[in-house]
Amino acid sequence: MRFFALGLLAMAACSPTGPVAVFPKSFQFGFATIAYQSEGSLRGDGTRVASNWSEWDELGKIKGGQHNDHGNGFFEGYTTDLDLAASLGANAFSYAIDWARLEPAPGVFDDAELGRIVAIVQAMRARKLRPVIVMFHWVTPTWVQSPKQGIDLLSRSDRAFAEAFVPLVDHVVPALAGLVDDWLTFEEPYSIVGAEYLAGLHPPGKFLDIKSSQRALVNLMYLHARTYHHIHQLDTQDADGDGVAAFVGFENLALESVPLDATSPDDVQAAKHFDYIVNHQFMKGIWEGDIDVDLDGRADNLKTDPPEGHDEELRHTLDFIGLNYYQRMRVEAGGILSKVAPFFGTPHLDVREYDTTLPHSDRYWEISSPGLRTVIEEYSKYGLPMNITENGEADLDDDERPFYILDHLRKAGEAIAAGYDIRGYYYWTISDNFEWNDGIEPRYGLFQVDFTKPNFPRTRTPRAADVFEEVAKRGAIDRALWDRIALPSYPVGPP
Ligand code: FCB
Repeated sequence: MRFFALGLLAMAACSPTGPVAVFPKSFQFGFATIAYQSEGSLRGDGTRVASNWSEWDELGKIKGGQHNDHGNGFFEGYTTDLDLAASLGANAFSYAIDWARLEPAPGVFDDAELGRIVAIVQAMRARKLRPVIVMFHWVTPTWVQSPKQGIDLLSRSDRAFAEAFVPLVDHVVPALAGLVDDWLTFEEPYSIVGAEYLAGLHPPGKFLDIKSSQRALVNLMYLHARTYHHIHQLDTQDADGDGVAAFVGFENLALESVPLDATSPDDVQAAKHFDYIVNHQFMKGIWEGDIDVDLDGRADNLKTDPPEGHDEELRHTLDFIGLNYYQRMRVEAGGILSKVAPFFGTPHLDVREYDTTLPHSDRYWEISSPGLRTVIEEYSKYGLPMNITENGEADLDDDERPFYILDHLRKAGEAIAAGYDIRGYYYWTISDNFEWNDGIEPRYGLFQVDFTKPNFPRTRTPRAADVFEEVAKRGAIDRALWDRIALPSYPVGPP
């Protein structure tokens, strides 16, 4: 039956006048959001949430000394964004909760905050937006990680970090079990270790601290696995009546990895190594149960810290894989990290490091829609359903983004027609928000936000919002839309 349906989709996609892509009826067209980025660090009563990120902000570490007090006003005004999402035809919405708001001291929970999260989820359901909850997204209470006090459970060699997180799971999941079926344990292990311990951009701001990065990766595997098991124990209520009470995944930063110089065998090798590091090392831990700390593809080195090995507790702790796909990564065998074990090469994520004439976003991230298909094919080897849990472009003038969205959606549709099990596409994000250490500069929202006004008014983007809306409402990419939006080439050069 499934293959028959896929065949029809493929036929529709091939016809010269028909739609260029057709999505299954159950396909999720959603938006992804994160509490900290859209709610900031202040509570309703004006007091400050004690988190690693509010301290980072106080320490002046955000670009230009910016402060994230209110995000984009979602804390008070979440119904605005939910209304906007529904108005664009979305049928799903993902929201990452804020550990620091919920558990200000170990074992002390803020009931009002949990009540607010329940209200947000109810508001999603009232608008027929399928709720997706992300349990951990980088923000911790200061008793877990404090750049000011030098506390950091994440980089410890014991399991303190995962153990600290489990009570939060046990507290939050029962309150949402009757409303939510789709869960993500956490997101982007390599963004965490890369920005926190290697590049020094996120708290605790360590630079090339390989030992802490290795410990953190393993701690995140345990955070993931324990959260996975606890969600399954606690959520036995099927909220949407499809027979599945809890569907639990995690989000990986999926990067297309290509050699900087395709004719150089060393760069080709380096690109393969980085592909393994970024896309598969963590998966090996939580899917096979094999902990590879020295990044050589095996789990047999007892001298690493923590030691490598196999752990059944980690194995098969995924019901689906979330792909956060934004860009292509170019890898060279040389460069500044080439002498740093276990990297032995250097990844580049900014076209200014190699070629600014290539299509890129306002953040200089190289655009590559074929890379989405590449990562889908790669991740399909795990045999799990996939969901494109984040995809988007920072594009203030909204000139490239309409095609960025359309072309990535087309690639998703073509992959579905070819038989890949892709359940949804979540655009990052509904309204501009606070992009971590880059502050409000990168503008991803399909609604532009005026951050100078206290109520953060939204304005619809001139073109990109139309594209999302037209595809989501039709469940297809019509040829006329494609012909109207497709670019012969992206504008390049400075944004
Ligand atoms: C992703 C992050 C998300 C947002 C987008 C642009 O890697 O998960 O919070 O910053 O990048």
